[in-house]
Amino acid sequence: MSDSTALPAVETARMGSNSGQPMTRRDGFLKVTGTAPYAADNTPAGLAHAVFAPATIARGRVTHLDVAAAMTHPGVIHVMTPANRPPLALDPTEKPNRFSFLTEVLQDDTVRYAGQPIALVVAETLEAATEGAALLAPQYAAETPRIGLDAGRYATETVGMGSPAGVGRGDVEAGFAAAARVVEHTSETPSQYHNAMEPHAIVAEWQGDKVILHTPTQAPHMTAEAFAAWFGIPVSDVLIRTPFVGGGFGSKAIGTGSYILTTLAARTLGRPVKLSHRRSQMFGPVGHRGATRQTIRLGMDEHGALTALTHHSVSATSSFDEFLEGAAGASLMTYAAGAIRTSHEGARNDIGTPGPMRAPGEASGSAALEIAVDVAAEACGMDPLDFRLANYAETDPLGGKPYTSKALRECYAEGVRAFGWSERPLAPGRMRDEDGLLVGWGMGTAIFPCPMFAAEARATLRADGTGLVETSLIDMGQGAWTALAQIAADALGLDVSQVELRGGASDLPDAGVAGGSGHTATAGMAIEGAGTDAVKKLAELAAADPDSPLFGTGNTGVVARGGRLYSAADESRSESYVDILARARRDGVEGSGKGGRDPSVGESHAMQAHGAVFAEVKVDPDLCQMRVTRLVGAFAAGRIINPRMVQSQYRGGMIWGQSFALLEGAVTDPRTGRIMNADLGEYHVPVNADVPSVEALLIPEEDTLINPLGIKGVGEIGITGTAGAIANAVWHATGYRATQYPIRIEDVLAAMG
Ligand code: MOS
Repeated sequence: MSDSTALPAVETARMGSNSGQPMTRRDGFLKVTGTAPYAADNTPAGLAHAVFAPATIARGRVTHLDVAAAMTHPGVIHVMTPANRPPLALDPTEKPNRFSFLTEVLQDDTVRYAGQPIALVVAETLEAATEGAALLAPQYAAETPRIGLDAGRYATETVGMGSPAGVGRGDVEAGFAAAARVVEHTSETPSQYHNAMEPHAIVAEWQGDKVILHTPTQAPHMTAEAFAAWFGIPVSDVLIRTPFVGGGFGSKAIGTGSYILTTLAARTLGRPVKLSHRRSQMFGPVGHRGATRQTIRLGMDEHGALTALTHHSVSATSSFDEFLEGAAGASLMTYAAGAIRTSHEGARNDIGTPGPMRAPGEASGSAALEIAVDVAAEACGMDPLDFRLANYAETDPLGGKPYTSKALRECYAEGVRAFGWSERPLAPGRMRDEDGLLVGWGMGTAIFPCPMFAAEARATLRADGTGLVETSLIDMGQGAWTALAQIAADALGLDVSQVELRGGASDLPDAGVAGGSGHTATAGMAIEGAGTDAVKKLAELAAADPDSPLFGTGNTGVVARGGRLYSAADESRSESYVDILARARRDGVEGSGKGGRDPSVGESHAMQAHGAVFAEVKVDPDLCQMRVTRLVGAFAAGRIINPRMVQSQYRGGMIWGQSFALLEGAVTDPRTGRIMNADLGEYHVPVNADVPSVEALLIPEEDTLINPLGIKGVGEIGITGTAGAIANAVWHATGYRATQYPIRIEDVLAAMG
C-alpha cells in the first residue's frame, strides 16, 4: 500500500461530459411498456387483499361494526377492528422520527376525521374485501365537526416541520408610519389533497421475523426505521422496496396507518397482504396542503420601495397533530423591505392532518404574496415588474446575508423578452383578442430554498471496465434514475451507458429523502464522492505498479475519462481501467462518498433558487370563464444536470400553479365534515387541453458555494410564483382582485356585475 501522501490527485466529475446533456429517461422504456414495477404490481404467492373501511363522519365514536356480516361474506378471511388489533411497539401518540405524523391505527373507537380507517378487511380477492368492508355498516355517535378557519383557533410557536411561527426584522410600525402608501390584502387558499397518479399502496410480506415491504416512499431508510419502531424489530429486519414511485410530492415520506394495519394483518395471517388506497381514500389519511387565510400589509415610500411588510397566516390542522402551512415564510424570501414581520396561528379542525405538499409553505404563501405585491404596484401606479425590481432583494430579506448566487434579474429579463411583457398596458381591461375575449397579463416571482440532507453512496469500478453505483435513490417521476446516472458516469470517468445504478431499496447506502428539492444535489454529492473515491483507489493501483504507464504519477495527478486514467502532466501516459484491474488481479475497486449540507455556508450565505413566471389569461366577458393561454417561466437554480428533466419539473410545477389558481380545492361540507369532491371527476386538476402553452426557460447560474456540484434544486420552485401570476393576469383582464383560490367564475361574474 502506498503512502497516502503520495496518492495522485484525481480530477473527475465536475468537468464530465455526461452532465448537462438532455438525455431521455433511462427508465423510459420500462415505463412506456408498462413493465416498471410499482408497489401494487407485486403479487407474491398466497397474496391476500386488504381494504380499509373509512369513517363517514368527521367527529365522534364508532358504536357498532357488523363484523359478523363481513366475516360471513365468501372470501373474507379477517376483519381487524380496535377490538382485536394486535399491539404495536410504538404508541400511536409517539412519532418514530421528526418527519412523521401521528397516524390512525385502530387504537380506539374515536373518529377524528371523515375518511379515517375504522376497520381493515382482508379477503382472497379485492372484490370480496371491498364487499366485506361495505357490510360493516358502521353506526356512530356523531358530534358536530369543527370545519373552517374560524374554528378551533389557537396560538402556535412553530409551523411546518418546526420552523418558528413568527419572525421578523426591523420596526414594522415605524415602517408603516413612514410609508407614503399602505395597502392590505387578504387571500384564502383551499385545502388541496394529494393525488399522485399512483395512490398509496403496500404489499407486506413477512419471512419469519423479517418483513419485505413493497411500498412507494420518498425516504426508504426513514421508512424502514419507522416500521422497525412500530413493530419493535431491528431495522435490518425491514426491507423497503420502492424502485418506482408514481409521484410523491411530500405525501410518501414515511408511511400511513393503513400501511401499518396491512403489515399487522400479514403477520397475523401468515401470508402476504396487499392494500391500495382507492382514489377517494387519498382525501384524508395521507396528508394534504392545509387551508390558509393570509393577510399581507405593505407600506411603500413615494418611489415604491417597501418600508414595511407584515404577513399573517391562519393555517388549518387536525385535532390530533401539528402541521401548519408556514405560508408567511414566503415573505422572508422574496422582496427587500425596510422591516418585515411574519406570524401564524392555527385552526384545529376535524380533518386529516395536513402535511408537506410540493413547496409546502412557499406555494400558498407566494400565491397570496404575489397578489398583494400586485395590489401595491397598482397603488403606486407602477408596472408590476418595475415594482418588483424596485424591491429586489440584493441580500436575504430576513438576515441580510448575501446569496450564494442569485440570477433573478436575468430571469426577469429573459421572461419579459420571451413573453413580450413590455407591450403590457398598465390599466386592467384594455386588451381583447380577435374573438372579443378579455386578455390579461400577470407575473409573479418564484422562490425556493435549497435544503440538503445527509446521503451516502458506494461506487465500484469493475474488472470489465463498467461502473456500479449504489444508493437508495428515489425516482418519483422527477428523473433521478437518469440525472444521478449522469453524475455517476462523470464521477467514474465513464459514459452513462457503462454505469449500472442500483437504488430504490433500504438495503443500499442511505440516499436520504427525495424531498425539499434536494435529492439531486444531496444524492449527487454522495455519488460524486463515491465515484471520485473509486477512481482514486484505481489510480493508487496504477501509480504503484511499475508496469503501468502511470507508474509514479504521484502528486502530478491523473484525469479519469472514457474508461482510462491519464497523467494530468502528460496525457500521452494513460491506461484503461480494464488493464489496471487485470494486472492487479482485482475484481474491482470500491469507493464511498457522502452528501449533505455544509453548515458553514448556511451561516454566511442565503441559499435559494429563483425564477419569474409570466401568465396570459383570456376571460369571456359575458360568462367570465377563464383560460390560461400562455405561461412563461424563467428559472435559475445553479448547475443543471439534465435540461430535459429540469424543464419537465418546471413545467409540472407551473401546471400545478395553474391548478392552484383556477381549479384545485377540496370542498368540505361544514355540517358533516365530509369532502364532497373526493374523486378526480370533481376535484379538478388541469388536463392537456387546459395547458396550451407552457414554456420553461433555463437561466444559466454558476454557484461555487452552495455545494461541490453547484446544484440547487428544481422540483418545487415552479409552483411558486405561478398561481399569483395567473391571479394577477385575471385582474389585468377583468379588474377583479382575487381574494380566494381557486378563482371561481362566480367571483369574477359578481365583481364585473
Ligand atoms: Mo416535497 S413537499 O419536499 O416532497
